[in-house]
Amino acid sequence: MKSFKRLRIAAPAALGAAVLSLALSAPAWAQGYPARPVTLVVPFAAGGPTDVVARLLGAAMMKPLGQTVVIENKTGAGGTIAAAAVARAAPDGYTFLIHHNGMGTAPALYRKLSYNPLADFEYVSQVVDVPMTLVGRKDLPAKDFRELQAYVKANGDKVNLAHAGLGAVSHLCGMLLRQAIGAEVTTVPYQGTGPAMNALLGGQVDLLCDQTTSTTPFIKAGSVKLYGVTTSQRLKTLPDTPTLAEQGLAGFQVVVWHGIYAPKGTPKEAIDKFGAALRTALKDPAVVARLAELGAIIPPDDKLTPAGLQGWLQQETQRYAPVIKAAGQFAD
Ligand code: MLT
Repeated sequence: MKSFKRLRIAAPAALGAAVLSLALSAPAWAQGYPARPVTLVVPFAAGGPTDVVARLLGAAMMKPLGQTVVIENKTGAGGTIAAAAVARAAPDGYTFLIHHNGMGTAPALYRKLSYNPLADFEYVSQVVDVPMTLVGRKDLPAKDFRELQAYVKANGDKVNLAHAGLGAVSHLCGMLLRQAIGAEVTTVPYQGTGPAMNALLGGQVDLLCDQTTSTTPFIKAGSVKLYGVTTSQRLKTLPDTPTLAEQGLAGFQVVVWHGIYAPKGTPKEAIDKFGAALRTALKDPAVVARLAELGAIIPPDDKLTPAGLQGWLQQETQRYAPVIKAAGQFAD
């Protein structure tokens, strides 16, 4: 894509002709689209919640799309490396990005962001909303959240909390918890909560705040300790688990939302077709059942549109900016 951008500067006449010929043949192009596999970039490691959702939907989208959806995990810097790469990718309908709240928090968190989440992408649709859970390693002595708070206060920075980097929701949730409990735990970054969960299962870290799409199977198997959910109401999938708000953290709420984006300039026909395949996948009974089992919520139809995502991202970006600035959390 770098060469595409160079071409735009060096040979505007040639590019103009190419754009004109694409515009003239757009219906023919649209009919043949997609002519080869389409890549969906996941900004975190395989096995984590974004990856779980992307692979489930990508598989269900293949039939309506008529092509394979290839999942590419491009990790690093809390999802900003993948977002920057997709912003620079060829706007040809063959590269999409799935991302979460991090699209809205990155501008306030990172001093130097090489892309503008609001200006450098086309919007496809929102995807799913997912609650989070606070889980601990299986042999952590604290039996419940009350005991956990005492344990964390007594052990301070000896307690390790895993997360997926600045801009990750596991980091945001961890920081909010640290603030709410008023204790100094040590934070340990991973390339995604997939590897962070492996570290928790292996006993290398003590705590992780992660989405139910990732934690539910481990909670059900009893391989981690569950201390609470981050929603305002208890979850249908974990009805016996109190919310953190119920357990003393008044107003504590973190719910993760996801969206699908494409590089700016991607043809509308490609956005429409990829979005239609996504909406079909989100109505597939097997997908609906699996998402429900994992605690994910499918947003209403008006959110499953380009405008539904664009309006939401604008709102979220404005909501986070003052909060993050006040907390003084920046990265270079
Ligand atoms: C992941 O997919 O690994 C997570 O969404 C990362 C995060 O906590 O934001």
